[in-house]
Amino acid sequence: MYLTREEERILNGEEGEAKAVALKLVVKVGEALGAERLVEINHAHASGISYDNIGEPGLRFMKRLLESGGRVAVFSTYNPAGTSFLDDAPVNRDPELLQKQLEVIRTLEAMGFRRSATCIPYTLRQPGLGEHLAWGESSAVAVANSIYGARSNREAGPLALAAALVGRTYRWGLHLPENRKPSIHVRVETGVEGELGAGLVGYIVGRLSGNLVPYIDTGEGALDERQGIALCAAAAASGSTAMCLLKGLSPEDHGPPREPIERVAIGEAELREALDELSTAEPGEAEVFFTGCPHHEPASILEKVRSLVERYGPPRRPLWIAVPGSVPPGLAAEARRLRRMNIVLLPGTCLVVTRLRGLVDTVATDSVKTAFYIARRHRTRVALVNLEDYFRLQTGLSPRQVAP
Ligand code: F3S
Repeated sequence: MYLTREEERILNGEEGEAKAVALKLVVKVGEALGAERLVEINHAHASGISYDNIGEPGLRFMKRLLESGGRVAVFSTYNPAGTSFLDDAPVNRDPELLQKQLEVIRTLEAMGFRRSATCIPYTLRQPGLGEHLAWGESSAVAVANSIYGARSNREAGPLALAAALVGRTYRWGLHLPENRKPSIHVRVETGVEGELGAGLVGYIVGRLSGNLVPYIDTGEGALDERQGIALCAAAAASGSTAMCLLKGLSPEDHGPPREPIERVAIGEAELREALDELSTAEPGEAEVFFTGCPHHEPASILEKVRSLVERYGPPRRPLWIAVPGSVPPGLAAEARRLRRMNIVLLPGTCLVVTRLRGLVDTVATDSVKTAFYIARRHRTRVALVNLEDYFRLQTGLSPRQVAP
């Protein structure tokens, strides 16, 4: 791989041990993939930072990097953790885990990572069109490429951490313009209802397109941004999708592809089939409703929930909402008020990365990504339903549309 003089100096340890270790890792992965050079990045996002995921070896590795001078070279953030930043959150049951998770977070923040613990890092720093990133959260990578037109591959956690310390990653995959063209055309021939409907489309797209870039045509109505996020997250969960071209939403959407490429249609029957495949419970059986995968921005979700409470009353069963860990001032007090209405905020974590077993057995959610993972990781039973329909069902009203 071609390295600049500065990169050679880093590799030779002239800027400290931590940077040399980090650059070696980036170069090694890049060479294995056939990258010819590195590229400077504007933002690194490390995933897989839950203590349950990295364990003692991962924590020791991070501490060694810190002690040997590791400091971030660019704007850097990290993914949700295994515990919440609100001490009395229902998922914070194990004091030992809390302590260890805190050590992970302190180590990252001592290296210069921003308080984040979120999978929507694009709300902390908006990626620019065409800029290079090294992100390690599959849903965020798909959103960065698809909705912002920024460039990132799906980086493994340690690679994104290394990229943060050297401000570079290998120039390969989606960093190259020729790999960002669509090679499968997906036409959605039915209405897409809410985040759930968009997530189901994403689930199907992820399975059928593998790591290709799909062009997704939703007809006249473009998806809204939150639906685009839900679609990207589900496609990145069921497949290795890292970029979609969403008609009317992606800045790199230049119209349907003209070259003869594979064409696929998704209709009501396919959405129904996907819903049935992912559902293992009825909404009425759920002990909690969970929303916030990917995380919600607190202001917008709380406004939506307040308007639902005004129309239908507070939820009878707890409503859990995952939001970023960078808790804005006043959110803790707001969280206490919301608790009295059965609404529980979970800043800095989510149901997939936290320990769920023994806490709840049956969850209703509007997130296809959550449904996909909690059934596999925690053996949780799942009902898929849009948030407003869940409120309606609890007040005895029939849902506007429980299924697409
Ligand atoms: Fe985020 Fe957790 Fe979902 S990390 S994308 S809320 S699985």
